[in-house]
Amino acid sequence: MYKSIEIDNYAAYEPYISSYTMSVHYNQHYKKYLNNLNNLLSKYNFDYSKEELVKNIDVFPIEERANILFNLGGVLNHELFFNILGSGPISDELNDKLIEDFGSFDNFKNEFIRQANLLVGSGYTFLVLNKEKKLEIINIVNQDTPYSYGLIPIMNLDLWEHAYYLDYQSDRKTYINNFFSIIDFSKVSSNYEKEI
Ligand SMILES: [Fe+2]
Repeated sequence: MYKSIEIDNYAAYEPYISSYTMSVHYNQHYKKYLNNLNNLLSKYNFDYSKEELVKNIDVFPIEERANILFNLGGVLNHELFFNILGSGPISDELNDKLIEDFGSFDNFKNEFIRQANLLVGSGYTFLVLNKEKKLEIINIVNQDTPYSYGLIPIMNLDLWEHAYYLDYQSDRKTYINNFFSIIDFSKVSSNYEKEI
């Protein structure tokens, strides 16, 4: 039984993400993935972390894997997204790595925004660490998780309509640009540093 993460202030990301959107996103969408996942797993006994569960999905009957993975991805992806929202400084380690892999912080930011605008349908843009320990920006559809591809997620932007539609309607472009005003780069930095 996986426990829910907590969000103590839905209004913390105003005016870029409204308190109403945060409340609906957390209470209705995230909690639904978590409840579905816990229900699907309730008949099994295991002590995998969620990340290990992705890698060991083949311990479950084949007909249940897609549903488990969809809800597990929904939980992991939302927990990462809610985790990196806020404000906080980037570490020297991550800043140096972004310069090494993208040329500059601005190049990284522009490439992240460019990729996010290219995503078609529901999904996420991710900053991930690949097997060669290089940072990459990728788009992921639906609730797939980078762990399924041997990639470690460092930060992500939720591009499902439920993440922005109440505040921006069809203006996804502005939502994407505003995202960079509400990222806690100290959290992104720790996500990176614990993997190197
Ligand atoms: Fe979402």
